[in-house]
Amino acid sequence: MGNGIAHVFAQFGHQVNLIDISQSALDKALETIGKNLDRQVVKGAITEEEKAGTLANLTPHTDMAKGVQGVSLVVEAATENVALKLKIFRDLDAMTAPDVILATNTSSISITQIAAETQRPDKVIGMHFMNPVPVMKLVEIIRGYSTSDKVTTTIMEMSRKLNKVPVEVNDYPGFVANRILMPMINEAIYTLYEGVAGVEEIDTVMKLGMAHPMGPLQLADFIGLDVCLAILRVLNDGFGNPKYAPCPLLVNMVMAGKKGVKSGEGFYSWSHGTKELVVADNFK
Ligand SMILES: NC(=O)c1ccc[n+]([C@@H]2O[C@H](COP(=O)([O-])OP(=O)(O)OC[C@H]3O[C@@H](n4cnc5c(N)ncnc54)[C@H](O)[C@@H]3O)[C@@H](O)[C@H]2O)c1
Repeated sequence: MGNGIAHVFAQFGHQVNLIDISQSALDKALETIGKNLDRQVVKGAITEEEKAGTLANLTPHTDMAKGVQGVSLVVEAATENVALKLKIFRDLDAMTAPDVILATNTSSISITQIAAETQRPDKVIGMHFMNPVPVMKLVEIIRGYSTSDKVTTTIMEMSRKLNKVPVEVNDYPGFVANRILMPMINEAIYTLYEGVAGVEEIDTVMKLGMAHPMGPLQLADFIGLDVCLAILRVLNDGFGNPKYAPCPLLVNMVMAGKKGVKSGEGFYSWSHGTKELVVADNFK
């Protein structure tokens, strides 16, 4: 997600410092951005000059203190882990000027909880981009309990300048997008777990029957099964309602390291190198 967010800001003229603790993640991110820009050029969406300008706006950093020096906005998109995000925001609060807006791309962690780690809860906001970021129009803008009107307006306007459509929502577990999406994905996994239908059948029903661009099991593989599990746990804990309890099959798959596209296998096998959907051996 970080590379997609950096791509879009850089494409629309912002100087972007792309920060990761891992040098190889940064190398991979710049390679991905390059390939995605090439695709935009081929489609005629941008020119070669715009591609070069976008790449020139990007500077990778492994040191967060250096990377956030002199910035006016931070968009955090580190791993979805509460303790990690709280630490990053304590550090960002100490490392940046007090007027800097601190946004997070979290899919599910409370903006209010993150904001409470800082001395500027009015300037902490959710900026939830969708995957793949350069393609998807929506940005869910999440107001924490203390987020100010001014900061919300600034981030809504900035999102529009990135050619996105921002939607303002309040800070409750899962916000809007994942509160509705994750129970659907979980139900699809339960449907498989209970033997109602197979992977391809479930996805075909939802693709052709509901006009979804891809089925919920394929989408779960794209999002990352570990990310889906983490979000369901936030919903389950946050509402205390068993309807959000993650399906045991999802829990097992994550424990087995089958996380979807990023690990090479989830409901489908992703290691064969073609675009064709191949159901994972466990579900054949
Ligand atoms: N995957 C999706 O479809 C999706 C969609 C919307 C939002 N999100 C959210 O975006 C965020 C990132 O998701 P992702 O799927 O890209 O995760 P990911 O695990 O693939 O990537 C996270 C990156 O953060 C880096 N990182 C970890 N600790 C760090 C630190 N202390 N400082 C700097 N970098 C650090 C990791 O090295 C890794 O490269 C999460 O909050 C997730 O909930 C994900």
